[in-house]
Amino acid sequence: MSSNGTPGRELEDVEIRLLLEGVYRQYGFDFREYAPASLKRRLHRRMYAESLETISALQDRVLHDPSCMERLLLDLSINVTAMFRDPTFYVAFREQVVPMLRTYPFTRIWVAGCSTGEEVYSLAILLDEEQLYDRTRIYATDINQAVIERARTGVFPLDKMQEYTQNYIRAGGKRAFSEYYTAKYGGALFSRSLIDNVVFAQHNLVSDRAFNEFNAILCRNVMIYFDRSLQNKVLELFDESLVMFGMLALGHKESLKFTAFEDRYEELNSNERLYRKVA
Ligand SMILES: C[S@@+](CC[C@H](N)C(=O)[O-])C[C@H]1O[C@@H](n2cnc3c(N)ncnc32)[C@H](O)[C@@H]1O
Repeated sequence: MSSNGTPGRELEDVEIRLLLEGVYRQYGFDFREYAPASLKRRLHRRMYAESLETISALQDRVLHDPSCMERLLLDLSINVTAMFRDPTFYVAFREQVVPMLRTYPFTRIWVAGCSTGEEVYSLAILLDEEQLYDRTRIYATDINQAVIERARTGVFPLDKMQEYTQNYIRAGGKRAFSEYYTAKYGGALFSRSLIDNVVFAQHNLVSDRAFNEFNAILCRNVMIYFDRSLQNKVLELFDESLVMFGMLALGHKESLKFTAFEDRYEELNSNERLYRKVA
């Protein structure tokens, strides 16, 4: 204990390691190699929300109360997302990836860490406009079952539609964005046909294995929360899952630079973090 009665930083680091180890052993969710600063912030947030005073108390509750684990999971799996997020990425995808996808009679795309699905619906719209949707299957996965359920509903906040319309236009959208949704259930309900070729499933990038072969993998704004060794582990999983010349898309703050995969991927677009497997 420090002089003011709160656990010192080192002791708290020990508590955090024990909590993460317990969560892994009890529930199989492996956050042990997530970037420590943001992890600590989120654990504190959950600790205060549960009116607890120490990480050890939080560990006790999480291990004995699965509903507390669910709440913690929501805190740890930062779900921020948007339709046509980073519109320039979609411009690059249209210009550089679509022509390659056209060369295949049928393609499989994996959206890993899809959160509540905005990225998946955006991709489906783009592929539909490029007449590629009918010969594509999209696998949309996330560690968090709750966000997957929301993604399946295809209902997004109506008050976001103005922002998403702007994103869609900047992303090179070819129609009126409002053609894709109707106001329903207090939100914007997106056309069900957009998920006709989508398989939603829970999948943990840290502990689950490869499950198919893909022509493209989008994993944007997910690995930013992982430390370097975990990033390498997940990149290995993507490498196993990509066909030769398959495409990998990372988030704007993520990169293959200084990873074990740097030399085996060609940079298709460095600003948009678009890569192609070449070895
Ligand atoms: C910030 S969101 C990114 C959503 C979307 N890809 C985008 O760029 O807008 C990060 C998502 O990664 C998911 N995630 C975090 N750790 C994961 C893991 N180990 N396996 C699978 N998904 C994970 C979270 O649940 C969250 O939905």
